[in-house]
Amino acid sequence: MWITLPVFWGALASSPQLVGNLQAWYINRDGARIGNTLWDTFSNTSAPGAHLSWALVDPVAAGTNEDIINAVLQNQAWVAVVVEANATTKLSRARTNGDANYDPRTAITVYYAQARQETAVGNYVLPITTQILTASVSAYATASAQRYFAQITPGTDVNQTAVQLLSQAPQTISPAVSWTMVNLRPYTTPAAQAVTLVGNIFLTIFTFIMTMAHAAARVILAPRLRLSSYLCLRLVVPFIAYIPLSMSYTLVSLAFGLPFDGRFSAARGFLLAFMFNYLGMLALGLSLEAMITLLTPKFIPYFLFILIIYNVAPTLLPPELLSPFFAYGEGFPIWNLSQAMRGILFNTTTDFGQTVGVMVGWISVSCGTLVLFTWWMRRRELAALLQDASIAEPSLRGSRGDVAEVAVEETKKV
Ligand SMILES: *[C@@H]1O[C@H](CO)[C@@H](O)[C@H](O)[C@H]1NC(C)=O
Ligand SMILES: *[C@@H]1O[C@H](CO)[C@@H](O)[C@H](O)[C@H]1NC(C)=O
Ligand SMILES: *[C@@H]1O[C@H](CO)[C@@H](O)[C@H](O)[C@H]1NC(C)=O
Ligand SMILES: *[C@@H]1O[C@H](CO)[C@@H](O)[C@H](O)[C@H]1NC(C)=O
Ligand SMILES: *[C@@H]1O[C@H](CO)[C@@H](O)[C@H](O)[C@H]1NC(C)=O
Repeated sequence: MWITLPVFWGALASSPQLVGNLQAWYINRDGARIGNTLWDTFSNTSAPGAHLSWALVDPVAAGTNEDIINAVLQNQAWVAVVVEANATTKLSRARTNGDANYDPRTAITVYYAQARQETAVGNYVLPITTQILTASVSAYATASAQRYFAQITPGTDVNQTAVQLLSQAPQTISPAVSWTMVNLRPYTTPAAQAVTLVGNIFLTIFTFIMTMAHAAARVILAPRLRLSSYLCLRLVVPFIAYIPLSMSYTLVSLAFGLPFDGRFSAARGFLLAFMFNYLGMLALGLSLEAMITLLTPKFIPYFLFILIIYNVAPTLLPPELLSPFFAYGEGFPIWNLSQAMRGILFNTTTDFGQTVGVMVGWISVSCGTLVLFTWWMRRRELAALLQDASIAEPSLRGSRGDVAEVAVEETKKV
């Protein structure tokens, strides 16, 4: 418990202090009063409450809306707040002209991609952005209304024309400035949490059940097999058994309407998801298969626990909200599997090639250790057998060294 649980607890514990690691862009295309005043609030890190890491991005460098959208999709920023060009001029012109068509929401646009990590976006990115926008915009609107009323009521006169025009466009006073939220990658299907988070635990447990069943069945066959056939059996069974298992797992997701057409066609998305689940099961299951050789079925549950927790902990939150310790997660199967699933279901930016690479790497390592451990355990068993035999059969009895030598010879023959 003390080796594993702190990893899970720890992953969740430090996120509020690390919110400042979340990159956020502020793009001031307006360059006038609205854009500048709002930036004063966004950049004020001494204000109470949590702060994202707001960066003032040069509007020319940021480029068009397309470029900003792409940057957010490429995970360069969690959120981009764009104060549109001429926002200040447009507002004051609408006020003086009584423009009933003025839409306050056109002044600011907020881009974010919820499916990049729905917990981080829902718990931190959106609440913090909305809170700072509400505070800064309402403060600006109040000050700006005050200035305008002072302007149209000079001294004791009241500019009747201006008041008349203002009554045609009350939205230029309240709210005066507002914003439009653009969710570039909505997390449309809550059931997707099953495959991006908790489902991976079930997947590991399925491979564990397979490993235990396989180990129990093997005991009967093992004494009748040569080492090469035995190794063959050990490797081939998981590779075949995980095909129907991962297919069933993916079919459950299909039945509950997960959007496999998020990025590719529905058919391709389904097959890819199946392939990734299969690779993920192999990456997780073969490491159990390798370790059960050393630990034996008696102690393998402890390894299962370590495997699950160390794999799942880094996927709970994005790397920015985890202590640097959890950087290992990027090389672990579940983190990569979960990223790949997001890519398939929600079209988030994912490097599928790298994910396959990580999985295949793990599978290869597990196959290698499985062969090594099996060979080693066979050698030990044989040595023990020979020793027993030599004790029972006095004619075979020699010094311990002789027995070991005979064992090595026998092992070589095998
Ligand atoms: C930043 O916020 C603090 C606390 O609200 C306030 O006292 C301070 O005047 C602000 N600074 C600026 C530059 O707005
Ligand atoms: C902003 O105002 C300038 C000068 O009035 C004008 O040239 C430009 O086209 C305007 N831009 C937008 C997007 O309205
Ligand atoms: C009254 O307001 C209108 C519209 O804002 C403006 O055109 C006009 O010059 C103002 N008149 C005075 C006397 O300020
Ligand atoms: C997925 O996102 C890319 C850009 O990141 C876009 O070009 C493509 O059209 C999207 N695919 C779907 C099916 O929405
Ligand atoms: C999988 O892990 C690698 C190695 O850290 C990382 O670079 C890659 O982005 C991960 N895959 C995905 C799909 O995010």
